Amino acid sequence: MNFKHKSVMLEEVLNALDVKPNGIYLDCTLGGGGHSRAVGEQLGKDGMIIGLDQDDDAIAAATENLSGLACGVKIFRENFSRLEKILDDSGADKIDGVLFDLGVSSYQIDTAQRGFSYIKNSPLDMRMDRRRTLTAHDVINRYDEDRLIKIFREYGEERFSKRIAAAICRERKISSIETTGELVKLIEQAAPRTKNGGHPAKRIFQAIRIEVNGELEILADAIKKAVARLKIGGRIAIITFHSLEDRIVKETFKTLAQGCICPKNFPVCVCNHKPEIKILGKAKTPTPEEINLNSRASSAKLRVAEKILDSRSTINFCRSSKEE
Ligand SMILES: C[S@@+](CC[C@H](N)C(=O)[O-])C[C@H]1O[C@@H](n2cnc3c(N)ncnc32)[C@H](O)[C@@H]1O
Repeated sequence: MNFKHKSVMLEEVLNALDVKPNGIYLDCTLGGGGHSRAVGEQLGKDGMIIGLDQDDDAIAAATENLSGLACGVKIFRENFSRLEKILDDSGADKIDGVLFDLGVSSYQIDTAQRGFSYIKNSPLDMRMDRRRTLTAHDVINRYDEDRLIKIFREYGEERFSKRIAAAICRERKISSIETTGELVKLIEQAAPRTKNGGHPAKRIFQAIRIEVNGELEILADAIKKAVARLKIGGRIAIITFHSLEDRIVKETFKTLAQGCICPKNFPVCVCNHKPEIKILGKAKTPTPEEINLNSRASSAKLRVAEKILDSRSTINFCRSSKEE
């Protein structure tokens, strides 16, 4: 397997995580293990990398890439929605840092038969985890028109969602839509290309991919679970590649960094809610030099936060004060 992927904002991620030689670091999106390898090279024998990915090809590539490190390495083929169980199974109660580098790898996009690319012709698949049953073929051939419109609008932010969904539903009455090539042709016929809008298939493919992999609904919860397992002073770094993901990260960080959440008309605070994290600066973007070398980095945004308080003590306090 020729797993090609260039890790995005590598230096920035290393700085953000502030790697300690004997720390425990969780990589929720291993891919080819590029970020983890760089973190692992800064760890001594008491340090550890715990990495997960839901894609079997990524697991094979990362396992090879992370061999020979001085630190401990534990790799799991899992969805990051199950990160608590993975940390429990690894015997890691608290960790020093966590990374989410969201979306798909270049390897996944460039491997035609995975069906992620609108440029290559292949069967409609788009699953990161090939143990799951829902594929892009199911979405395109089985979802009703209203559901397609909703997905294209919400996950693709596509202006011509209605027209594209109608074209798909018309076509599949004649015969099922089997390949990415057939789908792209339908999209091109249904949606006019706008001057600065880019190729409409790009947005529709993003929407289908998000639906097939359930990418957005698990994100906020996974961030909260990861923060709950950070040590005080531990760091969370998240790279996103589109505005829908970035909005979720920004809002979740904001909630976790918030103090009192009592209604505004309460004269005194009764919630005792305390900020769990401190947001470290604004979102960072790649340098022009990096984008020149790797155009796929161009939409990346890195957000970083530091744990400042353990939520477990806050939750316990709130419960006991309500019970009193
Ligand atoms: C952008 S790549 C990561 C690349 C990696 N940081 C590197 O430097 O090689 C994203 C990876 O996350 C995986 N992934 C995306 N969502 C996931 C999820 N919910 N659970 C587990 N893995 C996920 C994808 O399969 C993909 O391999």
